[in-house]
Amino acid sequence: MMIKWLGHSAFQITTNHNLRILIDPFISNNPVSPVTVEELTADLILVTHGHQDHFGDTLEIANRTRALIVANHEHSLFLSKQGLNAQGMNIGGTVEVQDIEVTMVNSTHSSDMDFIEEIGAGGSSCGFILKLENGRKIYHSGDTGLFGDMKTVIRDVYEPNIALIPIGDLFTMGPREAAIAADWLSPEVLIPMHYNTFPAIEQNPMEFAEMVESLNTDIEVVILEPGEVYEE
Ligand code: NI
Ligand code: MN
Repeated sequence: MMIKWLGHSAFQITTNHNLRILIDPFISNNPVSPVTVEELTADLILVTHGHQDHFGDTLEIANRTRALIVANHEHSLFLSKQGLNAQGMNIGGTVEVQDIEVTMVNSTHSSDMDFIEEIGAGGSSCGFILKLENGRKIYHSGDTGLFGDMKTVIRDVYEPNIALIPIGDLFTMGPREAAIAADWLSPEVLIPMHYNTFPAIEQNPMEFAEMVESLNTDIEVVILEPGEVYEE
């Protein structure tokens, strides 16, 4: 299984059975993207919310690849009207896509569809838990502040092995809150995201890693450069 960071909150996950998953594919306006939109392929696109730095190039990629888009109900209505293959769901639900399970979980953020001119209501923002065919569970939190369900619902119920969480501050948790989130989630592997895309969310990920290390847990913080891959 490979998790490639495309900068910001965009990830490309390839499972051992070669299912190609894109999460929040913000590519063409992403100043740190290591890839072009045209070279991306996908079977499944997950969208955490309607902000353009997450919805990104979903329309272009889905049109070209005919990938299934899993998003909240409001987004799926919009996407279906564009003739795309969308599966709507809501927080607490799980859908099976080929041999993986996708569960939508809470996040504390907003979700208006700011990628369309008239700005539509975009339902609730969310995170996702992906349960892969080998049993490994990946949590992508989307944009979020710190919230107590990370400790109870997300940790206790879903037990993620790998967590992808924001550390950029301003629009999401900053390093201080993200270190607490790391403790609450206690994954084996933690990959920080949503930082150093723009000056407003500049952070030193090494300082964040030291904060997590000082908690004396077994969490391994994996700091990727855009384009780098975590593999297991
Ligand atoms: Ni956002
Ligand atoms: Mn964002």
